[in-house]
Amino acid sequence: MNLATPAGRRRCLAGILTGTKALLLTKCNEDNMNTSTVYAICAMSDIPSQKAKGFLLMRVDDDGMTRPWPVVVVRWGQRVFGYVNKCPHDGVTLDWERNQFLDPNGIRLMCGKHGALFELGTGICVEGPCKGRSLQPVALSIFDGDICITDVKLVEDDEVLPNGRET
Ligand code: FES
Repeated sequence: MNLATPAGRRRCLAGILTGTKALLLTKCNEDNMNTSTVYAICAMSDIPSQKAKGFLLMRVDDDGMTRPWPVVVVRWGQRVFGYVNKCPHDGVTLDWERNQFLDPNGIRLMCGKHGALFELGTGICVEGPCKGRSLQPVALSIFDGDICITDVKLVEDDEVLPNGRET
C-alpha cells in the first residue's frame, strides 16, 4: 500500500476525548487518490513498548449514526494490536482503572472487573468467564510514526462543536 504525503492533517475527535492529538491522513493508490481514509490516533512514541492505552473515538456506523467507540491499543516493540475495549462476556470496558489494561505480569490484556485474561496478539480469552471468546479486533497500521486506525469512518473534531454536537 502506498501513502501520499498527507496534504492536510486534521485533528480527529480522538484528540478531544483523550487529550491525544490525532491526525487524519489520506490514503491513496496509483489509480485513486482518495480510496479511503486512515486516522492517526497517536504517535507510536506515545505508547511505551509493552504498554496499552485506551481511546474513546466516535465512529460513524453504516446507518450514518455516530456512536462512541472505545478502543485499546497495545504496543509491543514495533508491533501494535488494537481491540474494541469491551469484554465479550459482560460488555464492560476492560480498564476498570483508567488505562490499566494489562495483567500483573504485563503479558495479557485483563478485565479489571472480573480478571478475564486475553492474549495480546489474538484477543482470545484464555482464562475467565468468557474463555474461548475473543475481543473484537481493530485494524491498525503504522504510517509515518503514527498509529492509525483503518477500515472505519470516524468523526473528526472539526465536525463537532465545542459542546459536543456535530456540525
Ligand atoms: S466483563 Fe467479562 S470478564 Fe469482566
